[in-house]
Amino acid sequence: MQEADILVIGLAVYNFSVPAAFKAWIDQVVRSKVTFHYAENGPEGLLENKKAYVVIASGGTQVGSDIDFFSAYVRHILAFIGITDVTFIDSSGIGRDEKKVLACANEAIVAL
Ligand SMILES: Cc1cc2nc3c(=O)[nH]c(=O)nc-3n(C[C@H](O)[C@H](O)[C@H](O)COP(=O)(O)O)c2cc1C
Repeated sequence: MQEADILVIGLAVYNFSVPAAFKAWIDQVVRSKVTFHYAENGPEGLLENKKAYVVIASGGTQVGSDIDFFSAYVRHILAFIGITDVTFIDSSGIGRDEKKVLACANEAIVAL
């Protein structure tokens, strides 16, 4: 992870939040004096020049809706360790209209 230039995170929505396995990964990665430290003006991320792609999949909970408790958290925790160049690929709401959601996600990937 510290060696990687690019992170690709595939994230399912579980109960309006991130899966426990992803949270466990965060708890291993976000460590004081390793990936962030406390500077004079507050905490600072120690990872530099990394880019993250986060693919979000869900049954019905839409990215950006009032019950999206995951995307802001993922953006925050990555920024906290210094990864601010984050692109979300939205494949949320697959249970509503699978074809449309997958087509949009594929389009976003091709555009990248
Ligand atoms: C324990 C569990 C909780 C889930 N909670 C949500 C949820 O809150 N909102 C939602 O839209 N989908 C939810 N899902 C559906 C998953 O996001 C979905 O299964 C996942 O994106 C993978 O898609 P697939 O099942 O089509 O492979 C949940 C699935 C599981 C197993």
